[in-house]
Amino acid sequence: MRQPLHKKARLEKPSVYPERFSVPDDKVDWCSYFGEYRPPYFVAPEILERFYQNPSEVDPEDCCKIKRPFYSFENKVELDSSNRPRNPRGRTGLAGRGILWRWGANLAVDTVLSRLNAETDELELLLINRKDTGELALPGGMVNKGEKIREAQEREFEEETGLKISMEDSETVYCGYVDDQRNTDNAWMETVASHKHMGSNQASTLSFRAGDDAENVLWHSLKPELITNLYASHDEIVRLAMYRFYDRCGGWLTAKTKEQIEAVIVRQ
Ligand code: BGC
Repeated sequence: MRQPLHKKARLEKPSVYPERFSVPDDKVDWCSYFGEYRPPYFVAPEILERFYQNPSEVDPEDCCKIKRPFYSFENKVELDSSNRPRNPRGRTGLAGRGILWRWGANLAVDTVLSRLNAETDELELLLINRKDTGELALPGGMVNKGEKIREAQEREFEEETGLKISMEDSETVYCGYVDDQRNTDNAWMETVASHKHMGSNQASTLSFRAGDDAENVLWHSLKPELITNLYASHDEIVRLAMYRFYDRCGGWLTAKTKEQIEAVIVRQ
C-alpha cells in the first residue's frame, strides 16, 4: 500500500526552526527530480551541547562517526551524498536534525488507554495536553537507550499521568513513521503504539496527576472531531486501535459504543 504523504513534517515546525523550503506534493518523493531543492540546514545549538553532556543518548554532529546501522520500520534507510540518513517518507524542506537527538529514526512509544464510562455508556480515551504544543495527545515519549518497548510505555505512561499500569495485556497496533513537526530530511520520529482497554470498575478507581511533558490528563469521549485534532499522527493510531478493538470485541460492545467506533474508523 502507498504510504500517505507527510504533511506536518512539511507544513509545520517548532518555533526555533528556520522556514522550511516549500515542497509541493509531487516533489515529496526523493525519486521526483527537484533540481532547485535547497533546504536550509538546522541543528539546534542545545542538541550540539547535549551531545557533550550525554554522548550515549545524543548523536555526534558528524554522521560518519555513528557506528550503529540506521534502522527504520518503514524501508531500508538510504544515505545522502553527505552520508546522512534520508527520511523514508521523502523531502521535508529542512536538512539537519533540528531538535531531534538522533540522526535517522528517533524511537518513541505511545499508549492508547480506553475505558467504558459506566455512567454515560460512552467509550473514552485517556489523553494528555502536551506542554510543548498545547495539543491533545496520547501519553508517550522517547525510548531510552537499552530500554524495552513495554518498559518504555509503562514508564512514559506513569511519568505523564501518575498511573502505574501493566502493558503486558496490551495489543500493539502500530509500528512506524510519525508525521511530526520536528521531522527533517535526515531525522524523523517513529513510534510503537499499543492499545489497552480497562474495565469500567478498574477505570473508575484511577486518579491521575499530570507530569513531565503533560500539562493535564483527562478521559475524553471518543468522537471524530477529537481524533482529527490530535498531535502528530495520533489520529491514525487511535483509528487503528479502534478498528482492531471493534474486530476483536465488537460482540460485547453496546450499540452506543459501536456507533462511536464506526464514526472514527470511517475517515471523516
Ligand atoms: C511523543 C509521542 C509521539 C512521538 C512522535 C514523542 O515525543 O511523546 O507521543 O508519538 O513523539 O511524534
